[in-house]
Amino acid sequence: MAGFWIRIVLYMLAIAGVSWLFAAIGNANSGWTVAVLFLGGWVIYHLFYLEKTMAWLEDFQLDRVPRGSGVWELLVAKIYRLAKSGERQRQQLAETLKDFRSATEAMPDGVVTLDEDNQILYANEQAEDQLGISTEKDAGRNLINIVRHPEFVSYLNSQSWDKAIVIRGIRSSNRVLQIQLIPYGTRQRLLMTRDITQIDRLETTRRDFVANVSHELKTPLTVLNGFLETLRELPLEEAQKTQYLGLMQVQAQRMQNIVEDLLVLSKLESTSAVTQEDSISMGAMLERLAHDARSLSREQHQVVVECEDSSILIGAEDELSSAFANLISNAIRYTPAGGTIGLRWAKNPDGSGSFSVTDTGPGIESQHLPRLTERFYRVDRSRSRETGGTGLGLAIVKHVATRHQAQLLIDSEVGKGSCFSLVFPEKRLRAQ
Ligand SMILES: Nc1ncnc2c1ncn2[C@@H]1O[C@H](COP(=O)(O)OP(=O)(O)O)[C@@H](O)[C@H]1O
Ligand SMILES: [Mg+2]
Repeated sequence: MAGFWIRIVLYMLAIAGVSWLFAAIGNANSGWTVAVLFLGGWVIYHLFYLEKTMAWLEDFQLDRVPRGSGVWELLVAKIYRLAKSGERQRQQLAETLKDFRSATEAMPDGVVTLDEDNQILYANEQAEDQLGISTEKDAGRNLINIVRHPEFVSYLNSQSWDKAIVIRGIRSSNRVLQIQLIPYGTRQRLLMTRDITQIDRLETTRRDFVANVSHELKTPLTVLNGFLETLRELPLEEAQKTQYLGLMQVQAQRMQNIVEDLLVLSKLESTSAVTQEDSISMGAMLERLAHDARSLSREQHQVVVECEDSSILIGAEDELSSAFANLISNAIRYTPAGGTIGLRWAKNPDGSGSFSVTDTGPGIESQHLPRLTERFYRVDRSRSRETGGTGLGLAIVKHVATRHQAQLLIDSEVGKGSCFSLVFPEKRLRAQ
């Protein structure tokens, strides 16, 4: 700033000097005239640049800097630098905002930023989908007016947000969301939403499963206990004792079957896809299965084998043969004596291969079909038990199928019979 004043003082001195020179050479009047001319010129010069700078600032564009001179050049340069750094900061801010948005978009959870009155500032895509809002349309609107779920509204109004809450039925009746509000900054709020429908469903399945296993084991245990008590307390004849022991063994066997099937299931569940690559000749496999089927049926059913394709199936032989045997044992157990059981291996037009078991049994009503592979689901409980079923057979088959990228198809007509097929993708077949 000292330079500024020095320049002014120097300029004044120069005018004074020149005017004095004129006054000394000519008269006082010419001295004054020169002084007025120089001062006037000086004022006009500054007014000119003042106007130019004002015009620039009025319609400000960073890249249209007016040319200045002297202090005006310095002033314009200073303004330019300030504006430039402002611009840079704005750009940085915009960049940061963009980063923040793309980070929240990449998050699997929903994020909504709100002000203290719950007005929407921003919502990422997940939150838009989960809550049914849109940043574009709803920015500035009160979230409570859009998501009118009572539990949601009372949570937002509660002021006790240190714990997340679980809310069912926002937007769709079976969706389960975990929601937490986190205040931040001076007045802002962050609403985090997470879709936990799947986790909730798994948790329910797990609870049901534990209850079912307990129930399934409890029945034979109760019967066993009853017999044990009778044996201990009553003096029984030898023949009766033998009969009771036989009945007890049936119950013990039932428990053993259940536990064995559970162990098979848990083993299948613990690994995802099979890595074992046995080459299974389906012709030989069908013959073996038919032999076992006949002995299981005690020749009460007719077992028909059709091997229509010579392709070899690639997979885990032990798992697959147990899955096939499960389907066959169902067909035999549910089909009355005299019925026909068909075992078939064929190639489909799309290149996939089907193993199917058909029977002429009672068939299954269509409403049961989607649930048949659930653990312990049975259409006819007593029939299943009488024939030694555990209710886990089809669950095992389904798991083996999934592990081999195969599909289990069930086709059934009440009164006519059923057809259970395992369809293997082309990549699991190999020409002989
Ligand atoms: N071939 C079939 N014909 C009629 N019903 C069947 C047949 N296969 C399975 N089911 C029905 O599906 C239920 C589940 O089968 P599964 O999981 O193998 O258990 P289970 O041990 O009872 O056989 C059976 O209880 C039965 O009601
Ligand atoms: Mg079964």
